[in-house]
Amino acid sequence: MKIVGIVCSPRKGGNTEILMKEALQAAQEAGAETQLISLADKDITPCDACGACEETGLCTINDDMQDIYSELEEADGVILGTPVYFINVSAQAKAVIDRTYAFLMSRKLRGKIAAALVVTRRIGAGQVLGLLYSFFTVHRMIIAGGAVGYGRGKGEVVDGPGSSPALTALEEARALGKSVVRMINKIKPVAL
Ligand SMILES: Cc1cc2nc3c(=O)[nH]c(=O)nc-3n(C[C@H](O)[C@H](O)[C@H](O)COP(=O)(O)O)c2cc1C
Repeated sequence: MKIVGIVCSPRKGGNTEILMKEALQAAQEAGAETQLISLADKDITPCDACGACEETGLCTINDDMQDIYSELEEADGVILGTPVYFINVSAQAKAVIDRTYAFLMSRKLRGKIAAALVVTRRIGAGQVLGLLYSFFTVHRMIIAGGAVGYGRGKGEVVDGPGSSPALTALEEARALGKSVVRMINKIKPVAL
């Protein structure tokens, strides 16, 4: 069983990455093989609406998204992690979301388990969770749940704004990782 976690923050070692590591660690402990992909060092251009994938199911843009397509195709579960940027996903997350249009055509995400991880300083988590759940639903993915962390500066998601320990954010992330494994275990025998 493989779970891919995509960190859609441009900030290396930031809050989204911290919580993704926690979620994937819990998934590993529950028996999954995991892979973290950070978009901080990836070059992913937006969808150019060329329409080629509508004919072939393949995206013709030759950039780092091609590796992510391969990882997504192999994965049983996907955790999409994004910081909240102006009550929305990050631009990095939106580029990946739009580029999965090719997989909508080829139905390659259909039936995979999906989970959302959202980090915000203060506002917008609910809206962004809703956006991600809708995205998963369009692909006919199966939603395992979502987790939210609060913080602004790097690492603040762990200590919490005002420095009270935000243990619930870490616990939520761990529960999310385990939930993806549980759902894959439930669905897999049916798919086979
Ligand atoms: C461009 C930009 C827009 C942001 N918009 C919001 C926002 O709408 N609401 C909010 O509460 N925090 C907002 N933030 C704060 C981030 O969500 C917060 O710093 C988060 O921890 C960043 O995650 P990261 O460490 O994984 O990059 C914004 C930050 C940036 C850089």
